Amino acid sequence: MLKVWTNAVLHKFIQSRLEGYRLIVVSNREPYHHRYTPDGRVECSRPAGGMASALEPVMRACGGLWIAHGSADADRAVVDSHDHVEIPEGNPQFTLRRVWLTKEQVQGYYLGLSNQGLWPLCHVAFTRPYFERRDWDQYREVNQIFANAVLEEAADQPTFVFIQDYHFGLLPRMLSEANANLIVAQFWHIPWPNREVFRSFPWKEELLDGLLGNDLLGFHLRHHCQNFLDTVDRGIEALVDPSVSEVFRKGKRTLVRPFPISIDFDAYTAISQSAEVENHMNCWRRRIPLNGKRLGIGIDRLDYTKGIPDRIRALDVFFEECPEYRERLMFAQIGVPSRSSLPAYREVEREVDQLVESVNCRWGTDHWRPITLFKRQFSRAEMIALHRLADFCVVTSLHDGMNLVAKEFVASRIDGDGALVLSRFTGAARELRDAILINPFSIEETASAYKQALEMPSEERIRRMHRLREEVETNNIYAWAGRFLTALTRLEFPDRMENVENLENLEAEE
Ligand code: G6P
Repeated sequence: MLKVWTNAVLHKFIQSRLEGYRLIVVSNREPYHHRYTPDGRVECSRPAGGMASALEPVMRACGGLWIAHGSADADRAVVDSHDHVEIPEGNPQFTLRRVWLTKEQVQGYYLGLSNQGLWPLCHVAFTRPYFERRDWDQYREVNQIFANAVLEEAADQPTFVFIQDYHFGLLPRMLSEANANLIVAQFWHIPWPNREVFRSFPWKEELLDGLLGNDLLGFHLRHHCQNFLDTVDRGIEALVDPSVSEVFRKGKRTLVRPFPISIDFDAYTAISQSAEVENHMNCWRRRIPLNGKRLGIGIDRLDYTKGIPDRIRALDVFFEECPEYRERLMFAQIGVPSRSSLPAYREVEREVDQLVESVNCRWGTDHWRPITLFKRQFSRAEMIALHRLADFCVVTSLHDGMNLVAKEFVASRIDGDGALVLSRFTGAARELRDAILINPFSIEETASAYKQALEMPSEERIRRMHRLREEVETNNIYAWAGRFLTALTRLEFPDRMENVENLENLEAEE
């Protein structure tokens, strides 16, 4: 079996196994957005969040078309008459088609049903979901808008449609009913809850039926697949075969499989070595006056699932119990504003502000502010620079499908050093066994993990980081896409399967 999937291997794999098929990726969030700067120029940048940044290298390797919601203020100004724009600027590798939504549609489909309904329902992080009939109607309407865009782009060409995430639970059925020649697959980037939790979703039959329009449905973990099969088994008329993880409904077979997502390890390694990152490291040294102090970091969207208040409370306990670290440890938290028009997000931001303030008041001195909070988005190079400066990185999600920050930290550490404190309730914890694994609900356990990270003998820290890097290097984003496409090929084109196991051939052709 192939040891390391690369961009080039994936490219060849797609050319040989999906020959004759066009690839269309669909997501809500666009991989790049265009915004006006204060002086009226148009700037192109990446939005925050794991999904788009993980998919982008795959799209670069495959080419094709990406359909997403155009949500930034200059997005309309740069598209052509088909709403297309070539990405990235200057070196186009794929086409982005933007779909336009009204304020009401964004409110109902994105903020309402997706982020006040499905997001808390699936994460089960003790923030309750809200379900509104009119949000569901908007969700259906927007799924249909995206379906129309896909059908128009695919026309009568053989096409493989790869749908991302919980914003599009109804889209697969809409597509497979409208055009039986499409191959439709979806990856659900967040957890799937157990059937007891899912019972509270008011339109469960329609949502499950929508998802069963897929030929292949992927989750991060086997556990999420089992939850999904169980939910289908009890929630809707369908034939579930758990032995092969398949569901039959309305004459269609849906294969349900785990594919833990990852990042472009090689790209992180390359950027980590760049002069740009060295410059950003100097900027961070000015922002956080370390002067020989140790550094802990956290990088998250300001989301209540990330457990940011819990990690700050653990810092409070840590300074109480380990006085020798007062004036000797700094903690930098990047909190990228996210979905901030929703009350639960405003509430977590307020709580984080208050906690940072209170820890800084309690322990700070004339020469030392223990926590620095940066509430804005940073570029990838800036985040890599912060990763490189840290003694340890903290991920305290109360529940997370995967969590790519943990993998980004590991991939950024070209020096082979640094400790990772990682919540057991992330998908990443299944793979990153050499992290210091914690229950983020236990403040004491998290506080003692900080101590362990700071005091671990350097040989052990380096040994652990070495194994973590091997893991992320092997199970990188190209392996994720390659395994997903292998499962799809096996399903759709068994005749193209010869040699598929032996991907060294593809490497050898390089
Ligand atoms: C998670 C979701 C993605 C989403 C990202 C950022 O990673 O799985 O689908 O894009 O969060 O959230 P946003 O709502 O800003 O797109």
